[in-house]
Amino acid sequence: MSTHDEPENGSLDRARRSLRRADRAVALTGAGVSAASGVPTFRGEEGLWRDYSPRELATPDAFADDPVTVWQWYRWRRRKVAACDPNEAHAALARWTLKEEGARLVTQNVDDLHDRALRTAAGEAPIPDHARPVELHGSLFRTLCTGCGRRRERREEIDASSAGALPRCGDCGELLRPDVVWFGESLPREALDTAMDAARGASVCLVAGTSAAVQPAASVASVAADAGALLIEVNPERTPLTGRAAHAFRAGAEEVLPALLGGG
Ligand code: OAD
Repeated sequence: MSTHDEPENGSLDRARRSLRRADRAVALTGAGVSAASGVPTFRGEEGLWRDYSPRELATPDAFADDPVTVWQWYRWRRRKVAACDPNEAHAALARWTLKEEGARLVTQNVDDLHDRALRTAAGEAPIPDHARPVELHGSLFRTLCTGCGRRRERREEIDASSAGALPRCGDCGELLRPDVVWFGESLPREALDTAMDAARGASVCLVAGTSAAVQPAASVASVAADAGALLIEVNPERTPLTGRAAHAFRAGAEEVLPALLGGG
């Protein structure tokens, strides 16, 4: 039975039971899971792509033409995310992946909020590999060298005041760029393979906070559904995946995910 409605106890209980019984499950998240933390989403009324042009800021050509403007935009986004904290959705997903060996978290988000929630949930305990989020679109807090291709974590401030000040590779001296996937670029092979393997093997697929508008990320959910997984969606709005969902909860991820995945 489909429950395309406000979360109500019956459907929440059924969805929760399906998740609990699943030997293998995959969760796909998007910008909506970070909305309650204050991180802007991309589409919709308040979305980033309303005020900013992806073509001018998130393509390899834009970076080649004007790396200063592109870095300034990413510096602004890095600062914004650094000032935000993970919310209950991130916390619930972190506890879930730590507890369930068969659970995989795949994210389109480039903020580090899943990662920060995971570190908080793990405390002093080591973080097992299976619990680490699979990042399909990269990270705001890593750089990628345009020369040698080396990736590095980068948390300190970026000086984007002039072309001469932009960060350069310590190894080859070429310009560094944000390690995020831009329009027209391929997703990182290993992350995509891991995500698709998890999708094909999952008996439940939980999709939260994504418009499912961007491929191939959104196909993680459709591949799982094609392979027989029960689809559970958490999103205040309808998406192209809603029609395939056995349960579609029309509410915020920060409210529904703790109820679905278990409390703290
Ligand atoms: P979008 O901005 O396209 O969609 C955000 C979704 O979150 C929408 O469907 C909202 O209805 C939903 N939403 C809003 N608040 C929510 C809440 N509190 N709880 C749950 N859902 C909520 O963001 P993505 O789907 O993540 O790509 O966008 C996919 C990709 O498009 C991004 O990774 C980015 C962008 O271009 C790259 O940068 C490569």
